[in-house]
Amino acid sequence: MINAKRTPIERILKSQISDKEKENVEVWGWIRTSRFSKNISFISINDGSSFESLQLVVENNNVKVEENKLLTGSSVRARGKVVASSGGAQAYEILVKELDVISAADEQFPLQKKRHTQEFLREISHLRPRTNTHLAVGIVRSKLASTIHKYFTDAGFRYVHAPILTKSDCEGAGETFRVTSQDPAKSTASAPFSWKNDLFGQEVYLTVSGQLEAEALAMGLGKVYTFGPTFRADPSETTRHASEFWMVEPEMAFYDLEDMKVLTSDFIKSITNAVWKDCQDEIKFFTQYIEPELPKRFKTILEENFGDITYTEAQEILAKSTKTFEIKPGIGNDIATEHERYLVDEVFKKPLFVTDYPKTIKPFYMKQNDDNKTVACFDLLAPGIGEIIGGSQREERYDVLEREMKAHGMDDAYAWYLDTRRWGSVPHSGFGLGFERMMMYLTGIKNIKDVLAFPRASRRVW
Ligand code: 4AD
Ligand code: MG
Repeated sequence: MINAKRTPIERILKSQISDKEKENVEVWGWIRTSRFSKNISFISINDGSSFESLQLVVENNNVKVEENKLLTGSSVRARGKVVASSGGAQAYEILVKELDVISAADEQFPLQKKRHTQEFLREISHLRPRTNTHLAVGIVRSKLASTIHKYFTDAGFRYVHAPILTKSDCEGAGETFRVTSQDPAKSTASAPFSWKNDLFGQEVYLTVSGQLEAEALAMGLGKVYTFGPTFRADPSETTRHASEFWMVEPEMAFYDLEDMKVLTSDFIKSITNAVWKDCQDEIKFFTQYIEPELPKRFKTILEENFGDITYTEAQEILAKSTKTFEIKPGIGNDIATEHERYLVDEVFKKPLFVTDYPKTIKPFYMKQNDDNKTVACFDLLAPGIGEIIGGSQREERYDVLEREMKAHGMDDAYAWYLDTRRWGSVPHSGFGLGFERMMMYLTGIKNIKDVLAFPRASRRVW
């Protein structure tokens, strides 16, 4: 039984160990591929520390090779010497002195073929992390999340936590999941289901956005951000909607829309740069197998100024277009995904702010412009995706907000929100970045279900 200290594969491949350590390393991992011949066996293993796998070279004379236990999916540990690789894909490989099988996988292990369709892999989301695509997604996802935290904490933001169980439907779109402690099967005609009998004694939802609570926190903490799961019972089955997704929501006291646009562009460029710098292996893989234009995407985000037009200008561009849209564009209508894609994929070819939408198609909390028709907001659209961010300056005027809330039929559940404008109200702004949309943008992956480890979307919980 081998029991020396394990060395992560990443450190070996990146030559981060001393010459002395190289003489005798121990590695643990899962077999990706194995090839056996009379005298020599090649076993490629991955331990999750690096996207690239490590080749074990086993001379069959020196080490017992139980071929039937060394199949794809088996877990093994090996000890040996790090040597420069002669023909392998990597610079280094291991000349194995000892090899143990920890747990053997058989031919039933579903990930035998080199390439599977994403549809197939979704059905085995619990095994997907052992594929190149989902290992790369996991690595980039982790990097992107940590770099978002770093960006905001370095910029003086406080990381705050908004509740998941809430009384409010922030977006007012009626896409909330209701939460109950009661068993609906036990409701009877004489004891019908009632929210009054529930644990909270009232109707409660899973949050669709942490914004309203983040606003309250920003009124004491200045600049805050939340980064947590949000839930939407949107029945549309698209490649960019999930029922459970993660949202990054900064909220800044004293910021107007222009201040926030500057912050947003700096934020997107900065987190993109961190992924570019630290995830080259993964980006190369995504470029080869998923999106050939990916490096160009990074270059565009990093080097170009984002486009910036108003909703009205966007509608003018759409009206002039010769393209036939399924949904006809027009002033007063929302900008549909196909319109967004036309604007960014065919006209601007770079991230694009679209500002000042009509108030009739946006939520109650957005700051009304002086024209009384539009609100001080933006959506940030990205080529290949469409909307990745929605944000606005918030209506800080008590009377205007109260009027809007009444017009939207909002009840006492929102009285606390109005209180934040009653005493010491200040101009403030915030946005929500769909974390998975950003993941799709930076990996080229086309379906949101493939950037979430365990996707939950209309009709399916994988
Ligand atoms: O535009 P949305 O609905 O904005 C808000 O919720 C604001 N309260 C945010 C704020 O100002 N703090 O959602 C923000 C972003 C969208 O731009 C999109 O990227 C993402 O969240 N998003 C979804 N991502 C995946 N699946 C869904 N069903 C999504 N709905 C929104
Ligand atoms: Mg939106």
